[in-house]
Amino acid sequence: MKLNVNLGELSLKNPVMPASGCFGFGKEFSEFYDLNQLGAIVIKAATGEPRYGNETPRVAETAAGMLNAIGLQNPGVDGIIERELPFLESLDTPVIANVAGSTIEEYVMVAEKLSNVSTIEAIELNISCPNVKEGGIQFGTDPEVAQELTKEIKRVSGKPLFVKLSPNVADIVGMAKAVEHAGADGLSMINTLTGMRIDPHTKKPILANGTGGLSGPAIKPVAIRMIHQVRQITDLPIIGMGGITTTEDILEFILAGADAIAVGTANFQDPLVCKNLIDQLPNTLRKYGYESLQEVREARCTQVSI
Ligand SMILES: Cc1cc2nc3c(=O)[nH]c(=O)nc-3n(C[C@H](O)[C@H](O)[C@H](O)COP(=O)(O)O)c2cc1C
Repeated sequence: MKLNVNLGELSLKNPVMPASGCFGFGKEFSEFYDLNQLGAIVIKAATGEPRYGNETPRVAETAAGMLNAIGLQNPGVDGIIERELPFLESLDTPVIANVAGSTIEEYVMVAEKLSNVSTIEAIELNISCPNVKEGGIQFGTDPEVAQELTKEIKRVSGKPLFVKLSPNVADIVGMAKAVEHAGADGLSMINTLTGMRIDPHTKKPILANGTGGLSGPAIKPVAIRMIHQVRQITDLPIIGMGGITTTEDILEFILAGADAIAVGTANFQDPLVCKNLIDQLPNTLRKYGYESLQEVREARCTQVSI
């Protein structure tokens, strides 16, 4: 069965990739299966300098997912280029670099450095992170800031740019329009939803950071709704994510309007999940009467306007 998909200039052999931050830089997972089977690999966020992340505890379980406040721990863009990318170079599968920062200058510097590396085929812009220098405005929640950042990155990067949208907004369509207008080549959605847990014994938040990002099956209906909304106003390729654990979930995301999907939290439960989803996808598509992935995309759900 034909599972290949084109995301603009990017050709994938199938629509399944690990989500940023849930697959490291791939090395550990290569001990479990051949990473060439993946549609693409999205690596952990890169920042200008190495970051050690937030204080522990920085992960907590929830009824249908997890909360994390890792705090963008990573070896910094130079460390990633020197120590992590050589391993990925030998793979015959596109590598997408996830870019983060605290200021526009940092984002631009990181995106430019990664864009100059031939191993990297696309950039994913993580705009759901800390504040701008002057204080207070989140990149992922203010459409004007998101637009400016997207424009600046397009100026220095020749690689396809996927902007990863935060669900922590009232108007996801407004955010999508803003970044499309600024030149985004695609969208990734969604990132985590801000959440919190409190320990009844100490009466304090369980995470040292206070709040964290909720991911896993709990957020899937939010992701489906947002992708469905955004698909109605744009033809940009969409990489969908949020709680995917089964091939039925993949089908649902594509029917909502995604072109490809990323699997995040499920990798922590089962390191083989991406491989298994790829292996099982043809059977699930057949079960629902499809002969190819393209047929699913054509059968997109368009009835509901939100
Ligand atoms: C532990 C952890 C670390 C993450 N790190 C990143 C990151 O570095 N950059 C990013 O854009 N998203 C990051 N995310 C968000 C995921 O890529 C994904 O968007 C989100 O978890 C929703 O998918 P899921 O429900 O399948 O996990 C992280 C998520 C988790 C759980």
